Amino acid sequence: MTAAGPTLEVLIPAARIAERIRELGAEITRDYPEGNLHLICILKGGCFFLADLARAIERDVIVDFIGISSYGKGKTSSGEVRVTKDLDASLEGEDVLVVEDIVDSGVSLNYLIHLLELRNPRSIRIAALLDKPERRQRPVHVTYKGFEIPDKFVVGYGLDHAERYRNLRDVCVLVDG
Ligand code: IMP
Ligand code: MG
Repeated sequence: MTAAGPTLEVLIPAARIAERIRELGAEITRDYPEGNLHLICILKGGCFFLADLARAIERDVIVDFIGISSYGKGKTSSGEVRVTKDLDASLEGEDVLVVEDIVDSGVSLNYLIHLLELRNPRSIRIAALLDKPERRQRPVHVTYKGFEIPDKFVVGYGLDHAERYRNLRDVCVLVDG
């Protein structure tokens, strides 16, 4: 007997992602007419979304990265959040937009927002490509949301399973074989 491997089913095609990011970029451009805007990418999954979103924003931005880890190699949250790489720049008095791939339980972002608030930014908001609202355990307010998706494990466009599939252009559901 041979076990079939996991299969990928396209949930959100690349063209639809690109179209939605153009809309979000226009909204962000309108909402931040002046001052510094710090885009903070959550590594690693958020970097694909950040790269496209930053180019859809028609104003100057500062790009910075923070690494947090709340997941091991599995598909469920350990509930633990660790900063693995800190920001380069100070956020004091600045407008901050945290860019994340997906909000699932909300544990990581809820923790991170509290952490960043201690650095006294002028404002802090979240842009997330995907939201799985059914899975929420901690409150997280997403101002710029790409898509709400059902409670399925997805990969592609930055999202991984055990570090694989990040470079897929579409967001796909990973179906166990
Ligand atoms: P949260 O703390 O449960 O909201 O977890 C958010 C993080 O879990 C995301 O940044 C992803 O790295 C990961 N994650 C949550 N759901 C998925 C998924 O469906 N596929 C891949 N990674 C996911
Ligand atoms: Mg992530």
